[in-house]
Parts: sequence; structure tokens; C-alpha cells
Amino acid sequence: MVTHTLQLLDGAYDITIASGLMQQCGTLLRTQFAPGLANGETCRIMVVSDGNVAAHYLKPVVDSLAAAGFEVHTHVVSPGEHSKSFAVLSAVVESMAEAHLTRTDLALALGGGIIGDLTGFAAGCYLRGIRFIQMPTSLLAAVDASVGGKTAVNLQHGKNLAGMFHQPSAVLCDPDALHTLSELCLADGAAEAIKTGILGDAELFAIYESQNSAERYEDIIAHSVAYKARIVMEDPTEHGVRKLLNLGHTAGHAIELASDFRISHGHAVAIGMAMMARAACKRRMLSAEDCKRILQTLKRNDLPTQSPYPAEHLAELAQLDKKAASTSITVILPCGIGHCVMEKMPLDALEALFADGMEETA
Ligand code: GLY
Repeated sequence: MVTHTLQLLDGAYDITIASGLMQQCGTLLRTQFAPGLANGETCRIMVVSDGNVAAHYLKPVVDSLAAAGFEVHTHVVSPGEHSKSFAVLSAVVESMAEAHLTRTDLALALGGGIIGDLTGFAAGCYLRGIRFIQMPTSLLAAVDASVGGKTAVNLQHGKNLAGMFHQPSAVLCDPDALHTLSELCLADGAAEAIKTGILGDAELFAIYESQNSAERYEDIIAHSVAYKARIVMEDPTEHGVRKLLNLGHTAGHAIELASDFRISHGHAVAIGMAMMARAACKRRMLSAEDCKRILQTLKRNDLPTQSPYPAEHLAELAQLDKKAASTSITVILPCGIGHCVMEKMPLDALEALFADGMEETA
């Protein structure tokens, strides 16, 4: 079992990585959040999941919570990015009200990044905020999305445009949940872990560059979470250093939007990172050797590196991104494996940056 504690000004929470947590979550959560259950008090918990995840893992989690004495309620949504909408959010919040959840009760997100974002937002706005637990079941959520308190739904104008920072009260990550993931989902998670490697963890990058990542998931999650916890502790609400975590995301979100979410988040971010590596190489900020290593590592992990959409279209969509201020945008450029910089640039320079990022290097 590996535990990292994320310490913020207004509280702390543990991120625990261990096999078997889905079966043990009831006793763990009772000890930490509902000790009164032992004396016959009531604590309700709303487990939110999607149809795919629920088919595999809802029963063990519900059984464990019920055995520990929780009054368990469930809300299962359709799998896919289209569930990150106000309509679905509203249904989750209504379910919380229907189940009479109070401020001392809990929500639990059992799923990938979409479920985490949706449940976190619902927990953050229901009764002006109740506690919630992240239980990531995708590699992407385990290495990135479940940590740091970003919650959101999408608007027609763009991805994650409505949301709030609402930190979870605990993250319980059971790597056994990864066993049922498709290759495509594992590649999505690989993209975010490779991102962390490029940002600040050369050892993590090396796992994806040269070794068999499938045997190293606990390590990969532990490395990723340790890096992310450090960044979030320094800058919980993304006014400074947390912007680094958006490496590949400005182009990536535009690609997701252009494809109407047929290109998944991790795959789009991989293309975005490849574009930023090529653009940084062209600006002589990144060596040709390191640029090649980034592109090869993405390809080796079944990730795409070229955008199907032209730079002009992506630049237009990126201007809607929440990372864009009225006349400027901060982009992240790699300078080496384990080192990136933030660069604020005028919005109208984005198209040229994207175009450079699409030019194949030698
Ligand atoms: N996924 C990037 C962040 O949490 O800031």
C-alpha cells in the first residue's frame, strides 16, 4: 500500500493506492468519515458510476459499504463524455436530494475521469458542498484526474467550461480495476503519465520509453500522484505552476471538440504533446533527440502524434478554451525530458504555433 497526503491550507486528504481497496472501502471510509456508524448512527453514501464500470465493480463496492453499515444509494449514468452535461449533473444532484443526503453524508465517484468530474461537481454544489471520495477505475483517472479537485461539465462552447474546484476527502485507488480496461483506455492513461514524465519525472518517462508498463501500474500511479500532489499543494487553483499540467491540453481540448469527442481525451492530449514537442524543437528550446524520444514514446504506447484537423481550425476552437484570457494564452513547451516551461503568448500567435507543431521533424 502506498499513501500520499495532499496538504492544503483548508485541509488534507490521503491518496491511497492498494490492491483490494474496492472490497475494503467500507471499513476504511467508516473509520475515517463515519465512526458513528458503530454506535448506530446513520451515514448515507451516494455511489455514482457509469454502466460499464458498474457492471464490473458496483457490487463489490456497494457490498463493502453496506457491510460497514453505510446506507448506500447508487446513481448510474451512460458511459461517455456526453454524460458530462448539465442535464446529467442535475439528475445526479436530484438523486442526492431524493436520497435525503445531508452535509454529513458522502458521495463516491466510482469510475474514470468523467465520473470523477461529474460527481465532484454534484458534491460541490449539492447543499453548497458535501464531502466526496474519488475511486478511480481508469488509468487516466488514477494518474491524474482523481487528484487535485478539478470538477466540471462541458458546455456547447467547450470542454470543462462550467465547474469548480472541490477537493475530494480521500482518493482510494485500487489497481485491480485496471484489469478490465481496453487497450484504448490504457493508452489514454499512458498519455497523462507520459505527460507527467515530460513535465518532471524522467524515471516515469523511462518506464514508458523502454520497459513494459503493464507490469508497473502501481509504480506508474505512485509516481504520477506524487508529482501531481506536489504541484497541487503549491498551486491548488491553477494561478501559477499548476498550469504546467496542461501540457498538450490546449491543442488536445480543441481536437476533442473538433471530433465531437470521438477522439478521447488521452489520445487528443498525446497529439497536443507531440505538437508542443515539434514546436519547441523548431524554436530550439528542445533538442531534436528529445523531441524524437517524446514522439517515439507516444507511438510505442499506441498513441497518435498527428492532428487530423488543420492548425487554423484548432486555433479557433482553442480560443474558447478556459485557459485563454481575452488576448493571450499560456502554453506549455517541453525543454527536455523532465523539464517544461510556461509561455504566455498572444492568442493570434496560436495558429502559427500549432502549424509548427504539425510539421514532421526529420
Ligand atoms: N488535469 C490537470 C489538473 O488537474 O490540473
